[in-house]
Amino acid sequence: MITKLNLDEIINSTLKLLDETLHPYASGIFILNKVDDKYQLYQSYGLEDKNITFTSESKLVIFLKKSHQPAVIKQIDGISGVNPEISSEMSQLKAALVLPLMLHDDLIGFISLGRKKSDEDYTKDDLDVLQDLARTESIAVANAQLLAEAAQAERRAAIGTMAAGINHEIGNPLNIINTKIQVFLTAVKRGFYHEKPKEEIVQECEAILNETIAQTNRIADITRRLSNFAKPSKEFKPESVNIPKEIEEALFMAGHDVELDRIKIKKEIFAQLPDIMADRREIQQIFFNIIRNGAQAIEGQGIITIRALSAQNGKVHIEIEDTGKGISDDKRHRIFEPFFTTKGAKGTGLGLSIVRQLVWRNKGEISFRSQVGSGTTFILEFPKGV
Ligand SMILES: Nc1ncnc2c1ncn2[C@@H]1O[C@H](COP(=O)(O)OP(=O)(O)OP(=O)(O)O)[C@@H](O)[C@H]1O
Ligand SMILES: [Mg+2]
Repeated sequence: MITKLNLDEIINSTLKLLDETLHPYASGIFILNKVDDKYQLYQSYGLEDKNITFTSESKLVIFLKKSHQPAVIKQIDGISGVNPEISSEMSQLKAALVLPLMLHDDLIGFISLGRKKSDEDYTKDDLDVLQDLARTESIAVANAQLLAEAAQAERRAAIGTMAAGINHEIGNPLNIINTKIQVFLTAVKRGFYHEKPKEEIVQECEAILNETIAQTNRIADITRRLSNFAKPSKEFKPESVNIPKEIEEALFMAGHDVELDRIKIKKEIFAQLPDIMADRREIQQIFFNIIRNGAQAIEGQGIITIRALSAQNGKVHIEIEDTGKGISDDKRHRIFEPFFTTKGAKGTGLGLSIVRQLVWRNKGEISFRSQVGSGTTFILEFPKGV
């Protein structure tokens, strides 16, 4: 079971652990950026320069890739110290030793550690423990990267199934505009406006142009929303988020994916609901996934109720309830697992694992209650924004 899924969290906790146990003057973790094939400093302690990168031409990188062994400045037991070229690269990191993060035969990153503040040298025992840590770190980092990529793929898949709906949504207003103009032009051709007073013709044109503006606005709105949803999530960007507005956006997006016509949407939203500080697009994605799951759990007609209120504990409390088939006891503990799905090829099983990760990232909590045959309620709580 993967408990920590977020790369930031994994790296943060590892550096903290190293700092608290070994007390080095400096430490840092470098991760391979596959796009430009560079190793970038991801997080560090005690290093002033936060933008250090290493290319694959770096002597240190070449050494780590080839040997799969730690690079040490000074000899430790059987391990000899590195040559002056590597040593000078390491001094840029104030490093006494560098541990490779290997996944199979690939160098996915490395950990650099400075001299200990106690001035004691690193020992063979230290190295044994550190190499074990590097092994588990490699797996955790690779898992987190996979899940981040999967989140992106899932978003793309959702957009794919939405595309048909969007096509219809844009096709409709275009048809309306086209028909109105065609009718007018045909009438002109047939001499219908020959005898008519000028005012009437202007009025007719005005009506068509106003309709055109309304319909093109509708198209612009749809494309804006879609591109908003589709943008790859880069860094976490907290801002003041208005919950009812994001619920509307999520309903709009979900409406293209599952037919919401057969489902009645009820909203019970507290009028003075405070905003929360969160990443707006992530909040949208959370609502979208939960609403979509609810709709998919309902066969035929049903109701999705969305409640939002300001709780006494300083939190915004949101419930999304469906009248779907419910979650049986043997599945309750598995629904947040990545790739757990009961929908066969129709589901990736990533929806809720991503939802939970995003909820946590936005300082929220998620839980649910469910009764087989009558429905499921997901409960979200986020701290009020300041
Ligand atoms: N509202 C719900 N009612 C009943 N079962 C649910 C509900 N939400 C989730 N589940 C169960 O939890 C499983 C995992 O949900 P999750 O959203 O992670 O994946 P998925 O919906 O199967 O696939 P994807 O989200 O990628 O389309 C679902 O397959 C379903 O069995
Ligand atoms: Mg889902």
